[in-house]
Amino acid sequence: MTLLDIKDLTVRIPGAARPVLDSVSLRVAPGEVVGLVGESGSGKSTTAKAAIGLLPTGAEATGTVGFAGTDVLALSGERLRAHRAGPVAMVHQDPRAALNPVRRIGDFLTERGATRARAAELLEAVGLSSPERRLRQRPHELSGGMLQRVVIAGALAAEPRLLLADEATSALDVTTQAEILALLRTLRADRDLGLLLITHDLHLAAAYCDRVYVMYAGRVVEERSAQALFTTPTHPYTRGLLSCSPTLGTTHPLHPIPGRPPSLSDTFTGCPFVSRCGEAEQACETWTPEGTQLMDGGTAECRVVGNRSAGRNGWAQPPSQSTATKEASHG
Ligand SMILES: Nc1ncnc2c1ncn2[C@@H]1O[C@H](COP(=O)(O)OP(=O)(O)O)[C@@H](O)[C@H]1O
Ligand SMILES: [Mg+2]
Repeated sequence: MTLLDIKDLTVRIPGAARPVLDSVSLRVAPGEVVGLVGESGSGKSTTAKAAIGLLPTGAEATGTVGFAGTDVLALSGERLRAHRAGPVAMVHQDPRAALNPVRRIGDFLTERGATRARAAELLEAVGLSSPERRLRQRPHELSGGMLQRVVIAGALAAEPRLLLADEATSALDVTTQAEILALLRTLRADRDLGLLLITHDLHLAAAYCDRVYVMYAGRVVEERSAQALFTTPTHPYTRGLLSCSPTLGTTHPLHPIPGRPPSLSDTFTGCPFVSRCGEAEQACETWTPEGTQLMDGGTAECRVVGNRSAGRNGWAQPPSQSTATKEASHG
């Protein structure tokens, strides 16, 4: 079963030369940790917000955002409020922005519908010691990592089925980041929670996710299992992201991707990555982007990869066969 099922979502805002999101399809199943990765401005947050039925002001959308069989973009009024307050919860980068500095942690949790006893349980579930004492504390008495745990506890108060973590650990130091990510993985296992982990850090996504979507200029350019992404990154952009970000023990030189991603006012034809791609051929400049099914059930949206067809590099195989593999592996 799929929890979140975004299909061909295109979002345009007035005055922009290109769509903010261009035919984005993305699924999250219960108990699955899915990564959404890309440089700033690629459309990650817009995709996550669409899952709670929130589009930019004045935006026009085509495609569907399904959540457990409900069309989220068709919800309004009370039903939309219920959707946002219940089955889907979102956690952002800065926990201090979510917490009122003068209110106690206990108030933050009871305002989200938890009883006092349940609030203490939630703090324990997110790994905070002395929960009774924490309930009486105010945000300034806790560290950033502890506050992010409080915000996650608040998100869990309504028993969500899907948690959207939008750069939720980006502001934390590496050790705290690892602890929070480990916590999120435990929660998804204990609660069968679907988790969409949004980050600009591809190494982090590959380490903590089951499956990863790589976004560029509003499009999903690669979708792979985390393992496959790490061992055989396929889209030139994905490979660029991996080779330009440091990991523990990195000894090889880092190679930043030249240039910048296109802004919403840049018009282009062909592949959106063509101007920064080291493998681009002239035909890429007029190519209409479409995904190529890969051997492992993933997809990559690259003309050059598509042309290395039918297993020459062990990458591609006919779509019908690989669709069957995909269904089986996520069944
Ligand atoms: N409400 C909005 N109004 C106008 N432009 C927006 C709005 N929301 C996002 N954008 C633009 O859409 C693009 C994608 O933004 P976003 O989804 O926030 O990217 P990311 O989260 O990957 O950094 C950016 O160019 C951003 O400036
Ligand atoms: Mg963002």
